[in-house]
Amino acid sequence: MTPKVSRFLHDVAPATPCLVVDVDRVAENYARLKAALPLARIYYAVKANPAAPILSRLVDLDSCFDAASLEEVNLCLANGARPEAISFGNTVKKESAIKAAYDAGVRMFAFDSEPELRKLARSAPGSKVYCRILVGNVGAEWPLSKKFGCEVEMARELMVLAGELGLDPFGISFHVGSQQTRTDAYEAAIAKVGLLFTDLKNAGVNLRMINIGGGYPVRYRSEVPEIGAIGDAIMGAMVEAFGNALPEMVVEPGRFIVGDAGVVSSEVVLVSQKGKDDPVRWVYLDIGRFGGLAETEGEAIKYAFRTPHDGGAEGPVTIAGPTCDSTDTLYEKSNYRLPLALDSGDRVELLATGAYVTTYASQGFNGFAPLAEHYI
Ligand SMILES: Cc1ncc(COP(=O)(O)O)c(C=O)c1O
Repeated sequence: MTPKVSRFLHDVAPATPCLVVDVDRVAENYARLKAALPLARIYYAVKANPAAPILSRLVDLDSCFDAASLEEVNLCLANGARPEAISFGNTVKKESAIKAAYDAGVRMFAFDSEPELRKLARSAPGSKVYCRILVGNVGAEWPLSKKFGCEVEMARELMVLAGELGLDPFGISFHVGSQQTRTDAYEAAIAKVGLLFTDLKNAGVNLRMINIGGGYPVRYRSEVPEIGAIGDAIMGAMVEAFGNALPEMVVEPGRFIVGDAGVVSSEVVLVSQKGKDDPVRWVYLDIGRFGGLAETEGEAIKYAFRTPHDGGAEGPVTIAGPTCDSTDTLYEKSNYRLPLALDSGDRVELLATGAYVTTYASQGFNGFAPLAEHYI
C-alpha cells in the first residue's frame, strides 16, 4: 500500500467496499516497465482498469493503448489518446465495431482466424494487422488457455493472405497468461515467433513487429520475479531470435501497471464457526466474487490481507463475500490465516487490487451496489 493510499484511508475513512488507487504509482509502474524494456512501446491493456484518471495520466506519459472493445477504444479517445496510439487487440470483434474504430482513425488490429481477417480486409482496409499465436501458459496464475491465438502454421498462411487482401501484415503477438511467474514462458514464445518471422520472410512477407503481450506479475501473497529480470530474459530471447535485426517491440501490460497501485478497503460483516469445536472461522467481508473479486475464481489470484490486528495470534479461516451464493466464497483451500481478534465491523484491506476488480463488479447482485472507486 502506498503512503498516499494509507493516508487517504486514515483521513477520509471512505465507505466500504471501495477501491482506492494511487495514480502516481501507476505512473511509477509505467516508468519501471519502460526502464526494464526500453526498446518496447507500451500499450496499456485498458481492460485491467479503464478509469479516466488512469487513462489520462497514461496519455500524458505518451503511452499507447490496447483496447478490447469499441467501448474501450472510445474511452481512450475521450481521455485524449490519439487513434494511432490505439491497438484493437481483441481477436473477436463485431464487424460494426471494426468499422467504427477504423472510422475513428484506429489502424492497428489483432486477429487469429481467417474469418476475422476477412472482416478486417472489408472494414479496416490497409490497416496494420498482427496475428496472435498460441503459446504455453505454464507458470501463469491466471492462464488464458486456448481461447485466443492460432497454431503457427495457420498464422503463417494468414499473414500471407493478409497481404493479398490489401492489409499490412505487420507482426505477430502472443500472451503467456496473466500473472506469469516464469520468465522462460516469454523466452519460449519469442523463439517461436523468431522462427515464424524467418519462415514468412522466405515466403516474401517482411514482418516488422512482435507483440509480447502482457502477463507481467505483481506481488500478491508470494514473491514474483522482478520486472528487471523479466526484461533481461525478454531481451536475451529477442537477441537470440532476431540478432541485430530486432523488429519493433510492443508490450501490453495491464496488471503490472495498475495492480499494486490499488487497495480495496472492506468491512468484516461476520466472523463465525460452523461447529463449536471447528477451528476454521468463516470471515464474511462486504466484498466478494460479485463485488469485483472475480479472479479469486478457483482461488487463482491470492490477494494479501491487512487487518487492524496484524501481529497478533492467528488461526485458519475461510474467507467469503456477503451474497447468498455459495460460489461467493473466496478462499477455502489456500491456507489463509487471519488474526483471532478479527471481528465484525473491523476494516480489512486487500492489497494490490488495482487490476481486474472494478469492472468485474456486478450491477447489484443481492442488492449490493457496484464497488465505489477513488483515484487520488
Ligand atoms: C490481448 C491482451 N493483452 C494484454 C492483456 C493484459 O495482460 P496482463 O494484465 O496480464 O498484463 C490481456 C489480458 O487478458 C490481453 O487479453
